Amino acid sequence: ELVIHVTGARPNFPKAAPVIRALGARGVAQELVHTGQHYDDAMAKVFFRQLALPQPDVDLGVGSGSHARQTAAIMTGLEELFLARRPALVVVYGDVNSTVGAAIVAAKLGIAIAHVEAGLRSFDRTMPEEINRVVTDQLADLLFATSPDALTHLGNEGVRAGKVHFVGNPMIDTLLANLDRFDADQARRDHGLNGDYVVATLHRPSNVDDPDDAAELVKAMHSVADIAEVVVPLHPRGRARLEAAGLFSHDRLRVIDPLGYVEFLGLVRGANAVVTDSGGVQEETTILGVPCLTLRANTERPVTITHGTNRLVTRAELGFVASQVLSAGRAADWPVPPLWDGRAGERIAEVIEAYVHGKGAAGEG
Ligand code: UD1
Ligand code: UDP
Repeated sequence: ELVIHVTGARPNFPKAAPVIRALGARGVAQELVHTGQHYDDAMAKVFFRQLALPQPDVDLGVGSGSHARQTAAIMTGLEELFLARRPALVVVYGDVNSTVGAAIVAAKLGIAIAHVEAGLRSFDRTMPEEINRVVTDQLADLLFATSPDALTHLGNEGVRAGKVHFVGNPMIDTLLANLDRFDADQARRDHGLNGDYVVATLHRPSNVDDPDDAAELVKAMHSVADIAEVVVPLHPRGRARLEAAGLFSHDRLRVIDPLGYVEFLGLVRGANAVVTDSGGVQEETTILGVPCLTLRANTERPVTITHGTNRLVTRAELGFVASQVLSAGRAADWPVPPLWDGRAGERIAEVIEAYVHGKGAAGEG
């Protein structure tokens, strides 16, 4: 009863690591596929090294492309693989093209699907991820939810409650397991930071794809750099456009290459604030207690606002809000979302093991 995990993009790796580890401890047969959606060392391979993920059994090497081309390459590669390996269950993570591509292929081959991080909704279909989430959840047989709002959304979409398991957040398992390695002092030394500083990550199409949005974003980021040092480990997606829009031209704003997971979270841990449009970073700052300003009109992770340190800001108000947040300082304590306790991988593995053994027993009988 083989379980195949499909990963492909940067945010998949910290979600998959604790599930793979927990299933391994239970002796469940498993293989790891990397689609190659992300392929730079800093976007993919560094996670395999730092998170002690097993080397992928298969790397499909699909690379970049339009949505249709990339998803098609993922699907044709996975179809061949699933036909050859005949897994009992395919596990998919998050909301990237590798997630939905794998789910469609598995569903049409009659292979069961588990979706880790099911039920998150921004209700914004201009986000490609929202389409990936909705489709994947319709096809999944086991849906693992990280927050209570997800249960409501899945119920509203007609997903049978028996398929849904509220397990907590495996990305937070990885964060908590590696907490000792996130060295803020080292990060200050590495980046020559002395006073207050802000870390920013920016890659959403709504911020970086259109030249007008990019220009507005640069203005907003420069207004933050007027009040604190800003370090921007920049995703390759927006690099050329943001450079053309003048992002690099403020002497207190430093654009650097994407950082390894451990180095990135070391830098975040010591920051006075984070500015981001990432999904995962909203969650990580919630646990680290670092104020998070999310440059988006909506979030599929409202629990990071109700329980965490996150707030949504527009580009126009970013400079003002950042100055408020920097003078207010960090909160002494804050609530933590339910079940974000480091044991989500264990809970997921327990359900998956029972499911594949149940299938095996049914097959034998
Ligand atoms: C993808 C996900 C997004 C996620 C993000 C995490 C989809 C639809 N989007 O967006 O949800 O938040 O990953 O990082 O799946 N590139 C490189 N090197 C790489 C990978 C990408 O240079 O290793 C560049 C290429 O120019 C590529 C562009 O980044 O065209 C976009 O990559 P892609 O995988 O299509 O989407 P992301 O924007 O990374
Ligand atoms: N991350 C990283 N290095 C960086 C920026 C982000 O390791 O320079 C990590 C971050 O800590 C989180 C994950 O990448 O674990 C989030 O991925 P990303 O923001 O690319 O995707 P999203 O969550 O928006 O889908």
